[in-house]
Amino acid sequence: RRPHIVVVGSLNLDLIVEVDRLPDQGETVLGKKAHMLPGGKGANQAVAARRLGAEVSLIGAVGRDAFGARLLEALRTEGIDTEGVKVVPDEGSGLAFITLAERDNRIIVVPGANARLTPDDVDRQAALFRAADVVLVQLEIPLEAVEKAVELARRSGVRVILNPAPARPLPATLLRAVDVLTPNRLELRVVNDLPPPAVEAPEEEASAALEAGVRALLARGVSSVVVTLGAEGAAYAIRDAHGNPGGLHRVPAVRVPVRDTTGAGDAFNGALAVALAEGRPLGEAVRMANRAAAIKVTRFGAQAGMPTRAELERWQE
Ligand code: RIB
Ligand code: NA
Repeated sequence: RRPHIVVVGSLNLDLIVEVDRLPDQGETVLGKKAHMLPGGKGANQAVAARRLGAEVSLIGAVGRDAFGARLLEALRTEGIDTEGVKVVPDEGSGLAFITLAERDNRIIVVPGANARLTPDDVDRQAALFRAADVVLVQLEIPLEAVEKAVELARRSGVRVILNPAPARPLPATLLRAVDVLTPNRLELRVVNDLPPPAVEAPEEEASAALEAGVRALLARGVSSVVVTLGAEGAAYAIRDAHGNPGGLHRVPAVRVPVRDTTGAGDAFNGALAVALAEGRPLGEAVRMANRAAAIKVTRFGAQAGMPTRAELERWQE
């Protein structure tokens, strides 16, 4: 039986511009190329999980506009169940404005219809949660909808992965109900209510901050934390049977030529969900997720660049 993943999250149209360097204040520069591609962390993670072999249902919202139709079409072509995506009549679909310069990837998201996903919308899909192996959520939808999804997963005894992106401080009740929290380094600070550092910390300091941040989250009741570290790979830690925080395990990254890092975190989370749904231990799941993210960054486009299972397995050798 294929694992069944329920993703509760955003759909955006990505408006991407490739540029040699970003303009300064008051300056105009010429871009190299523009693209319009399906994105949104929820939809991207759904595609990642689907291509790796899971049955996937997405719960979310789009506007009643041409963009929304296009976003849904892209997901249906992948074989994703979109019955749980509502179409909002009086709001536009989510948009993401992405500038890709050399080693500099910036995104501004305008949530649009994503902001209209309610706890009731999620509740109406309760049957999906009962049939799920893993529920995967991010923070591009209202927090109340996230909380409802986590509550339904809990009630059905289904494991929950929360990818806290974009980051915000999170209530303790939510953290306690999450099995795996997957921040990147900056998000780890924000979910712990710390400001992002003004300058990049020296390695030793960064490493100490990483350990302290993970320990703090485990102490607040999260069962396990997986931190994505970009070119440095990932790190994870698990609360032991007595509720004590376990040590931090590091998983090095796979070295690859970088084409586009957009959606790398989404590849990671989608793969992690599939691996856990297949019953793999966390360490093995993190290694598989690392490989999925590595393949994604070699290719252009958030959803377009997601690896298939066959590609992932080839990379294993
Ligand atoms: O994680 C990448 C995604 O973030 C993009 O596809 C964009 O839509 C934003 O949501
Ligand atoms: Na990402």
